[in-house]
Order: sequence, then structure tokens, then C-alpha cells
Amino acid sequence: MGKKIAIIGGGNLGTAIAEGLLNSKFSKATDITITRRNIATLKSLNEKGIEITADNNAAVKNSEVIILAVKPFQVAEVLNGIRKDLSDDKILISVVTGVLISELESIVKNNIPYFRAMPNTAIAIRESMTCICCKDADNATTKYVNDLFSTVGKVVTIDEKLMEAATILAACGTAYAMRYIRANIQGGIEIGFDAATASLIAAQTVKGAAELLLQKGSHPEQEIDKVTTPKGCTIAGLNEMEHQGFSSSLIRGIVASYKKIAKD
Ligand SMILES: NC(=O)c1ccc[n+]([C@@H]2O[C@H](COP(=O)([O-])OP(=O)(O)OC[C@H]3O[C@@H](n4cnc5c(N)ncnc54)[C@H](OP(=O)(O)O)[C@@H]3O)[C@@H](O)[C@H]2O)c1
Repeated sequence: MGKKIAIIGGGNLGTAIAEGLLNSKFSKATDITITRRNIATLKSLNEKGIEITADNNAAVKNSEVIILAVKPFQVAEVLNGIRKDLSDDKILISVVTGVLISELESIVKNNIPYFRAMPNTAIAIRESMTCICCKDADNATTKYVNDLFSTVGKVVTIDEKLMEAATILAACGTAYAMRYIRANIQGGIEIGFDAATASLIAAQTVKGAAELLLQKGSHPEQEIDKVTTPKGCTIAGLNEMEHQGFSSSLIRGIVASYKKIAKD
């Protein structure tokens, strides 16, 4: 896509984004710069041709797209350090959890397009669900940022007031899914499988179920109807799970997580 990209904060998420951009061929290695204070850990990216540096100002000056991927408590210090380099021709994308666009603006004080993106850890294998919101961005810039995150998974544009909800459903959602899979593994062992076989069956079955919904656009209940025969074992198990509060506990868990971070 040709734009030069600076990733400020080359930790877990920053390096995963760099690798996604490179592997998908969205960017040439020489168009990506990634920064952190301890650059020794970025050596493998440097070997692929990505520029690594501890100099945030140089990285921002030489780039059009700035992806901020530091921890929330580091945002003010890092942005204050680069704000003079964030000229009108730049785009700022923050992947930092919980920092509002108005807070970014109040530090940067420049009239540039501001984006927030909330990916999840599956970004490391380019299977993220990334929710994006923006301010002061034209259609072409919005499309560019959508395309950028499409290189590392699926993207949906949302209103900023839904960003906390996105954090719960998409980012915490990975942990909820892991716990569901783990319970399947434990059940699988109890009915006869060894742990490795149970893990494979549980993970691939959940992946296949998710793919059915994504590829066919069907509703979960339509797919459930296909595997529940009258008086059969599936419906007996499903109903017992519901008697024990399965759906209810998941919904209550999601709401409890949301109450922890909701700002409204
Ligand atoms: N991990 C996820 O899946 C995920 C998902 C959604 C959102 N997020 C958000 O993404 C952000 C980053 O998360 P993470 O898991 O990647 O954290 P992380 O691994 O701790 O990465 C943060 C990086 O920022 C660097 N850094 C700190 N101060 C810096 C400075 N002054 N200049 C340049 N780099 C600096 C740190 O390296 P040095 O100490 O060497 O400078 C570190 O590598 C967080 O705000 C998090 O909430 C993460």
C-alpha cells in the first residue's frame, strides 16, 4: 500500500502487527519502523529488513502512519515526546486499551485523523478480530486503516462508545473461548481420550463450528438443529448444560467483565 508505518512500542502487539503487515505483503519491510527502548529483542524483525530503533522521533518523522502500541500508563510520556513530529500529514492509530480519542487529542493537540483499534491475541497468527473507531478521518484514510488491520484478521468499524464492549467480546473473548475448550478437554479425558487427542478434537471442533458461522453466515441455533436428533444424546447434553446455567453463566460473565471497565 506504499505508506511508511512507524510502530511505537515493539512489544507483543507491536511485533505481531509488524509481522502481519510483512507476511501479508501489505507493507515492504523497508517501509516499516518499529521502536522500543530495549531494541535487542527486535533483532529477528531487523533480520527481515524492518528498521528497528529506540528513537521515536526519527521513526515518526520518517513515517505517515503511526501505530501507538505502548502500555496505557506510558501513553502520555510517549505522546508528549513525539507530538511535535505529528504533523498534519500523519495518521495516528492507537491500539492502547482504555485511552479515549479525546485523551489522545488533548495531548497531541494537532488536527490529524485519530483511530483506536482493539485487536486480540490471535493477531499473532493473523486471525484477530479487530474493532476500529475514528475521528476526523476521510473515507480513503478509514479504508486504508481497515485494510491495514484486515492483514491480521477480520475488522469491524464501531462507535467509540462501544470500544469497552469490544474489549470484552473480542479481547477477553479469547480467554472465555479458551476456558470453554479446556472444559471440553477435561470432559473428553473423562470419557476416554488422552489429553493430547482430547485437545486436538476440542480445538478443531470449536474452530470448525466458528468457521461454519463465518463462512455460511448462519445462526448458531440453525447449526445446532442439524446435530440434535429427537431423544438423542446432543439435545440431552445441551439441555443438561442449560439446566446448570450454561448460557446464563456466560452472559453474566460477559456483563461482569464489562462492568469492570465500562466508563458510562
Ligand atoms: N496483547 C494484546 O493482545 C492486546 C490486545 C489489545 C490491545 N492491547 C494493548 O496494546 C498495548 C501493548 O500491549 P502489549 O501486550 O504489546 O504490551 P507490551 O508487550 O508490554 O509492549 C509495550 C512495548 O512498549 C515499549 N515501550 C515502552 N515505553 C516506550 C517508549 N518510551 N518508546 C518506545 N517503546 C516503548 C516496551 O518496550 P521497552 O520497555 O523496551 O521500551 C514494550 O515493548 C497495550 O496498551 C495493550 O492494552 C494489547
